[in-house]
Amino acid sequence: MKEKIYKRFQEIFGAEGEIGIYFAPGRVNLIGEHTDYNGGHVFPCALTIGTYGAARRRKDNKLRFYSMNFEHLNVIESSLDDLKPRRNAGWTNYPKGVIWAMKQKGYDIPCGIDLMLFGNIPNGSGLSSSASVEILTGYVLNDLFDLGISNQDLALLGQFSENNFNGVNCGIMDQFAIAMGKKDQAIFLDTSDLSYEYAPIRLKGASIVISCSNKKRGLGDSKYNERRVECEKALQEIQKVKNIESLGQLTEEQFESVKDAVKDTTRRRRARHAVYENQRTIKAVQALKENDIGLFGKLMNESHISLRDDYEVTGTELDTLVEEAWKVEGVLGSRMTGAGFGGCTVSIVKDEAVDTFIRQVGKAYRAAIDYKADFYAVQIGDGPRKL
Ligand code: GLA
Repeated sequence: MKEKIYKRFQEIFGAEGEIGIYFAPGRVNLIGEHTDYNGGHVFPCALTIGTYGAARRRKDNKLRFYSMNFEHLNVIESSLDDLKPRRNAGWTNYPKGVIWAMKQKGYDIPCGIDLMLFGNIPNGSGLSSSASVEILTGYVLNDLFDLGISNQDLALLGQFSENNFNGVNCGIMDQFAIAMGKKDQAIFLDTSDLSYEYAPIRLKGASIVISCSNKKRGLGDSKYNERRVECEKALQEIQKVKNIESLGQLTEEQFESVKDAVKDTTRRRRARHAVYENQRTIKAVQALKENDIGLFGKLMNESHISLRDDYEVTGTELDTLVEEAWKVEGVLGSRMTGAGFGGCTVSIVKDEAVDTFIRQVGKAYRAAIDYKADFYAVQIGDGPRKL
């Protein structure tokens, strides 16, 4: 891959100067969904698939971008003096956003760059291809300009750019999982203070299988922001009767005793998801530590039900994938992953059942939905690096 990208970079941008080759992973979240902007816990891991990049400093202020995934778009040019999100700038709004964020935070970006990307994360799949591009860009700039930024701060810069440049009010999970990824480990992150610990994923004869619904997120981003506002309102109502800073501070029992403060029943269900999902995540990590994969899987299933019924971010496609997965013998747990509204599910499947899983779920999905699903057995990989 390294040679392929290097060669293509030279073809597109010319061969002179020093060219660096980089990689940043994608991520999958095992459990803890829509908790990261509620001060709760998440449990994601980085993948071995992700975004490759080739980059070089320029002598002027120009920014030149090229994606091997969108060759028809050709080279997209911009400049350090024009760091504004533009509707027709497509994917380049992500690297531009990170450069903008770095400048906002006072980092010195002395000249422009040429940047070529190639991603092998299925697009719009909910495996965080955009956060992967953000962390890759941050890592590239950090290296090219010797900025001395820690990986954790790269994650915060990525989130800052996504929130303020790209207008998606996301939490920290995706950027953190990617920037801090470690082979064969998931990250148990407390989003209230960013304390975290790595937990080895030993599935004893089972694999992580991603099922991609091929339903693009579409309206997802606005719905995402809407859920966030619902949770904020519910928190404000609860704060009138209990002194808390986030929904993540409540146990299930505490929530039950204050829930009537949330007047609107829909909003109450949103808050219930945030509280119960956080507690489920804590329990799931404990189960994993005790090697109880069965309980871990059961909590994954409960997570999906809560996302379907209380949080309402699943939809027919994701529900079909999960409900069909639950029918297959050898499936230990299955749930939607990421923001929802389309994208992927994550399932823990016994190795001997993976083929049947793909066949059976694929067939049922095709029969229920107009298009097909794609399946990937994935591995947990390291964070960003220079190759
Ligand atoms: C998206 C966001 C994350 C997180 C998830 C839902 O992936 O970027 O911050 O909120 O949705 O858990």
